Amino acid sequence: MTTTPEPNEADSAYGGDGDGDSDRHSTVSLGSREGLCFTEEYGRRYAVFGENDCLFPSDEQEKVRLDLFSHMIEQVLGKRLHCAPVHLSAGNERVLDVGTGTGIWAIKMADLHPTCLVTGVDISEIQPVWVPPNLGFELFDVESPWTWSHPYTFIFARQLGGSIVNWSGLVRQCYGNLEPGGWVEIQQLDLEHYAEGPLAPQAGSRVRELCDLLSLALFSFRRRLGVAGHVEDLLRRHGFQNIVHGRIKVPLGNWPKDPKYKEIGSLRQWELERALEALTLKPFCKGLGWTPEKVRAFLDEVRSEIRNKNGQEKVHLTSTL
Ligand SMILES: C[S@@+](CC[C@H](N)C(=O)[O-])C[C@H]1O[C@@H](n2cnc3c(N)ncnc32)[C@H](O)[C@@H]1O
Repeated sequence: MTTTPEPNEADSAYGGDGDGDSDRHSTVSLGSREGLCFTEEYGRRYAVFGENDCLFPSDEQEKVRLDLFSHMIEQVLGKRLHCAPVHLSAGNERVLDVGTGTGIWAIKMADLHPTCLVTGVDISEIQPVWVPPNLGFELFDVESPWTWSHPYTFIFARQLGGSIVNWSGLVRQCYGNLEPGGWVEIQQLDLEHYAEGPLAPQAGSRVRELCDLLSLALFSFRRRLGVAGHVEDLLRRHGFQNIVHGRIKVPLGNWPKDPKYKEIGSLRQWELERALEALTLKPFCKGLGWTPEKVRAFLDEVRSEIRNKNGQEKVHLTSTL
């Protein structure tokens, strides 16, 4: 359970500067193109797009992690790319991938549906240049007004918890840019883990602490980590119909007996161990005032707990997509 207060999306009074040691870390502009540039902080590369100072890196390490994450979610969904019952075979349907990251989902959708027009948008230019002919990537801040002239058949957004300030605005723009009968799918794998099985009376304390601390840190940037319940409520408030909130268990570690879930749990462990630094370094330093050394020492403890090497009885952790 988290005791973190909920960020108020309408209130812009929250400061994003924190009182951390960010001033002690110089920001280096690595390149720029039409408002885009990258900065290097804490040894990681972050995109900067207009006013939007990204909290999570988008460097080579992160690209590898995002592609592995995408593969893992496909396994979780039984090799499907989405759950919405959208029909994309009539031709010229339009698909939008919001916060496309490396673009891997958009590329697969474009390959799978060659008569669809797929667009992937992101504030970080980390997508490949060679892509299917029916796919285009745009550098675009989805929190700014959407100016596309044609509505979309299917709008997809995955793993944007902690990135978006105004979820209500995003859901409103999805609604306004959707064809009648179109679908929106928003996926988020929770960082909140709970214990499973008779061996685990309580979830690991460091893993839980991580989630609580990150929620708190993101709050200082007016962002929320856990978005699933909130978004479901917003979809309803903005007039969407046929809302389905599915929950799928995702194990952490290779403890499941079922080979499918054993593989998923192993992938999740690999992915989460690499996500830890990406998720926490900047938010903890700038939002909570931690030093990078303190963050890394804390993450060592989290990793140790995830690997069950801390002398505790084996803890079977699970989270929800
Ligand atoms: C955790 S990654 C998820 C990437 C992809 N959706 C996936 O699941 O593989 C979040 C992505 O959202 C992008 N992002 C964050 N804020 C954004 C914004 N305001 N507009 C567009 N993209 C944004 C980030 O640059 C990053 O690539």
